Amino acid sequence: MNEPRRVEHQLTDKGYVPVYTTAVVEQPWSRYSRTDHEVWATLFARQQEVLAGRASEEFLRQQRAMGMSAGRIPKFDELNPVLRKATGWELIGVEGLLPELTFFEHLANRRFPVTWWIRKPEQLDYLSEPDLFHDLFGHVPLLMNPVFADYMAAYGRGGVKAHGIGPEALVNLTRLYWYTVEFGLIREAGGLRIYGSGIVSSKGESVHCLESAAPNRIGFDLERIMRTRYRIDTFQKTYFVIDSYEQLMQATSPDFTPIYARLAELDSFPAGSVQPGDVVIQRGSGEGWLDDGDV
Ligand SMILES: [Fe+2]
Repeated sequence: MNEPRRVEHQLTDKGYVPVYTTAVVEQPWSRYSRTDHEVWATLFARQQEVLAGRASEEFLRQQRAMGMSAGRIPKFDELNPVLRKATGWELIGVEGLLPELTFFEHLANRRFPVTWWIRKPEQLDYLSEPDLFHDLFGHVPLLMNPVFADYMAAYGRGGVKAHGIGPEALVNLTRLYWYTVEFGLIREAGGLRIYGSGIVSSKGESVHCLESAAPNRIGFDLERIMRTRYRIDTFQKTYFVIDSYEQLMQATSPDFTPIYARLAELDSFPAGSVQPGDVVIQRGSGEGWLDDGDV
């Protein structure tokens, strides 16, 4: 395999432009610097503290079961036997963002792409693209859960299919990923908990999503989510709440093709709107929301 590169967004006169790469690389573990390990340790310890009582019990349990710790950046080679045994998934090293179809094909085949490089110390709180901490700390623990693992593979198969149908279908499906895998909440015995990777890897959003009066918290509804725009530059205006991981899996079992056709005739919802028929757990105050910027 080639020596891994660190592929990041490029800053141009049009703002940040994503750069895509398809290479699968060996994790260059011996190349991590002391600073890289320290960034991991700092983020890990900080999130462990924030997530106690906030993250899904299952997320925390599976994270312990995998043996991830603050001590050093985990080796994919050490995590993979544990993960393979649990659900048949494995981690593969990548250099940065993957093109959509490549990403879907990996998921469909139970390969989870993990960016090999970690953010710099000055980027602890925000990074505009996935890095090792987001991918590994945020996404991988729930891949140990058999139901969630099946959901992710089903999503990958759905992605390959949507890619063949067209860009509008992909927009609908991407929103599902966004509002579940990245920014999902789950109702557990102790109350609302976090399972979305974009939240569990962010200190600020871990507190905001559960404790702020600003966002809406709304019961999971597949088609509602597929119609809802979202935020990429600020905290979410709306979080969708599942009752169980089984609910996710069941929601994705039907063929989405007729749903895409129906949604193509309908307008999208703004990220912060509350719609008739919503199961509203909390109607957000909207404090601090920007009017534009939904994607
Ligand atoms: Fe992610």
